[in-house]
Amino acid sequence: MYKIPANTLFVGKNLVYVPECHSTNTLAAELSQKTGTLEGTVVITDRQTAGRGQRGSRWETQAGKNLTFSVILKPVFLAVRDQFNLTIAVSLAVHDLVTELLDADIKIKWPNDIMVGHKKICGILIENSLSGDKIQQSIVGIGLNVNQTLFSIDTATSLQLEKKLEFDKNEIAENLLENLEQYYLQLRECKVDELTKYYNRQLYWLGKQHFFKVHDKEMSGTIEGVDRHGRLIVSQESERHSYDLKEISFLK
Ligand code: BTN
Repeated sequence: MYKIPANTLFVGKNLVYVPECHSTNTLAAELSQKTGTLEGTVVITDRQTAGRGQRGSRWETQAGKNLTFSVILKPVFLAVRDQFNLTIAVSLAVHDLVTELLDADIKIKWPNDIMVGHKKICGILIENSLSGDKIQQSIVGIGLNVNQTLFSIDTATSLQLEKKLEFDKNEIAENLLENLEQYYLQLRECKVDELTKYYNRQLYWLGKQHFFKVHDKEMSGTIEGVDRHGRLIVSQESERHSYDLKEISFLK
């Protein structure tokens, strides 16, 4: 059960809690199709039976231990070509919360994995519905590892593992929704340049040479930031290239 008296204008004011569901992103989409939903509605659960991740992957976490929820936003002010700006706002909201809770240097692995060192603590899945060249609705799904201490992969971590403390999920959800609304409002106020600069400074592997896979070939390069469409800018032998998600992956 959640009681989230977040200090917000609209995010989290309408809260749909279900003990279990397939995926909060899917449930949020179903609810908004069937009955319509207010902007800021949060769909939250303790257990997902078919949690979804990026690029068609599954998101599996231990029931009751973590935050798994989706927020319905209606960024009708965003053109489709600027949709990455929402990724920036959401990533920064989570980034700032985790930084504060852990008092550590938290990074964003492009496009939106939140990293503590080399381990992922939070995944974000944003699904947009479009109307012409505008975004009609975005379902922002967030999976933040809070009190889970055992993972099947060694590249995942949680707040409890990092801090050796149990965290109050309700309190964290409240703070996260507040951050989310603040960044979303900044986006609405067209503060995109500032947000992008701040996002770029938080990028994992920024400014250091690393290996990537580009169009199935291994190469080394240095991340410089993202361009205004959210493509990753990588410099390779003094040339700058920008790539979308399908074109590049991180190696080592
Ligand atoms: C990723 O692959 O990193 C994205 C993971 C996103 C997981 C969250 S949990 C709440 C919401 N519902 C889902 O089915 N997925 C997102």
